[in-house]
Amino acid sequence: MELPVVDHDAVLAAVSPAEAIERVRDGFLRFHAGEWSMPSKVYLQSAPHGDFRAMPALGGELALLKWITSFPANPARGLPTVMGIICLSDAHTGEPLMLLDARAVTALRTGAVAAVATRALARDDARSVGIVGCGLHGAWTARCLKAAGYGPGICFDPRHDAAAALAAELGWRAGGREDATRCDIVCCVTPGSEVVIDSGDLRAGMHLNMLGADGPGKAEATIAAVGACALFCDEWEQASHGGELAGAVAAGAVSRAQVGELGAVLAGEIPGRPGPEAVTLFDSTGLAIQDLAVASAVREAWRAGAVEAQTVRL
Ligand SMILES: NC(=O)c1ccc[n+]([C@@H]2O[C@H](COP(=O)([O-])OP(=O)(O)OC[C@H]3O[C@@H](n4cnc5c(N)ncnc54)[C@H](O)[C@@H]3O)[C@@H](O)[C@H]2O)c1
Repeated sequence: MELPVVDHDAVLAAVSPAEAIERVRDGFLRFHAGEWSMPSKVYLQSAPHGDFRAMPALGGELALLKWITSFPANPARGLPTVMGIICLSDAHTGEPLMLLDARAVTALRTGAVAAVATRALARDDARSVGIVGCGLHGAWTARCLKAAGYGPGICFDPRHDAAAALAAELGWRAGGREDATRCDIVCCVTPGSEVVIDSGDLRAGMHLNMLGADGPGKAEATIAAVGACALFCDEWEQASHGGELAGAVAAGAVSRAQVGELGAVLAGEIPGRPGPEAVTLFDSTGLAIQDLAVASAVREAWRAGAVEAQTVRL
């Protein structure tokens, strides 16, 4: 069996941020409609280094498994925090169809969901973007928001060079934390080991994309700040057990009825933003359906001859 292997750069060449946004939006709608399915993510702790995640999804005649890390100490070793492999299979025969670099797919789909949520939940006149955390996923979040028509923005990171490089790439500006959190749309993409948003940062009409805290024990906002927002998430089961909402749910400050799923908003089944003055918060924990949406777009690009892949014989 000859299996195409799509490397990091080929994934990014195959799918633009604009296409990733459309595909991820469509994936949320199909999942919400029950056409795509997704068992819960499995966490495999590898203490004290980090954790592995196994993420399956099925839909559109394809099945996917992503095997990916979150190893926070890796940058100090010169390795990425997030890396791994995606296997795409035929959902009818089980035949493996493609291997893809999971780092590139994850970066693209994570940035894309921020743009999807922003279009669904931010005020119509929201434009300025604050990026808090300008590492790999912060950068792709900024690129996707720019591709969706937002900006200019302000990039903040304690690593000034990372903020400056991202700002220069996008034609935005590097600034302090307060400059970034004063924007219309604030995207937090930090490791989630310390809080970056408190109640004092909330301003009427803002929209928050909380992307960095994607697992148990992580949070980028205080429980008080979370409790003061109109709340939305990618998927309740996952979001209530790890990430921004988990602490507030455990403390009894937030219940299921207060949190809307993005797919339901996109389908028009539940309201999005309650009004122009509300502060909306979207909690992203990262779903395998997002990976499936982008991976199937990569496969289409490869089949159309738009992108090269190496092959391996199994
Ligand atoms: N929601 C999702 O779907 C999803 C997907 C992938 C990764 N993640 C999570 O996103 C987080 C970031 O991942 P990454 O790969 O971009 O990591 P990274 O190490 O490349 O970037 C993190 C950045 O945050 C900065 N930072 C640290 N503390 C900060 C603070 N207090 N204020 C502002 N910036 C700060 C760091 O200097 C660094 O530049 C991780 O927790 C990861 O698990 C979430």
